[in-house]
Amino acid sequence: MEIGQTFISGESIRARAKELAAEIDKDNAGSDKPLICVCVLRGAAMFYCDVIKHLKSDIRCEFVSVRSYDGMKSCEPVLIQDAEIQKGANVVVVEDIVDTGKTVALMKKRFLSQGANSVKLCSMLARKEGVADYIGFVFDTDKFFIGYGLDYNQSYRNMDGVYELIP
Ligand code: IMP
Ligand code: MG
Repeated sequence: MEIGQTFISGESIRARAKELAAEIDKDNAGSDKPLICVCVLRGAAMFYCDVIKHLKSDIRCEFVSVRSYDGMKSCEPVLIQDAEIQKGANVVVVEDIVDTGKTVALMKKRFLSQGANSVKLCSMLARKEGVADYIGFVFDTDKFFIGYGLDYNQSYRNMDGVYELIP
């Protein structure tokens, strides 16, 4: 395994997170519903903090834990830790990367069935346009990424930037 050049710097991610927070605030302006931001652990932890610290709206923080990858292989998402969703709340789910979209689809279905008024998706990375309401960066690629929360078998999450892991 080899770690490639910096794919996206920590600085660029933080700048983009600030822009996305402004979009979330704009969309939430005037709403009298509570706003819950759900972090999908563990991968989204770093990006989640970057986004929520710039939100002007008063929010509630919730955390879910989902396992959707085994090494470099995608698998069916399994919910390990659930969130508490207030009925009628607007929910923003914050993810690290949308790959097949199964994880965010599971979250959306679950929170709507728990009585959320709306569920929007915010992802640091996506492999396709249009798979989330707020997307940091889109790369139409099969590359496997590590860093800034993204892991390979639980390693590399603390790297301050996204890198390609070359098999
Ligand atoms: P999905 O359910 O297929 O959309 O998978 C999304 C989840 O897979 C993300 O939350 C990540 O945990 C994981 N994942 C997808 N691509 C990568 C990658 O390139 N590096 C690390 N984890 C990834
Ligand atoms: Mg994940």
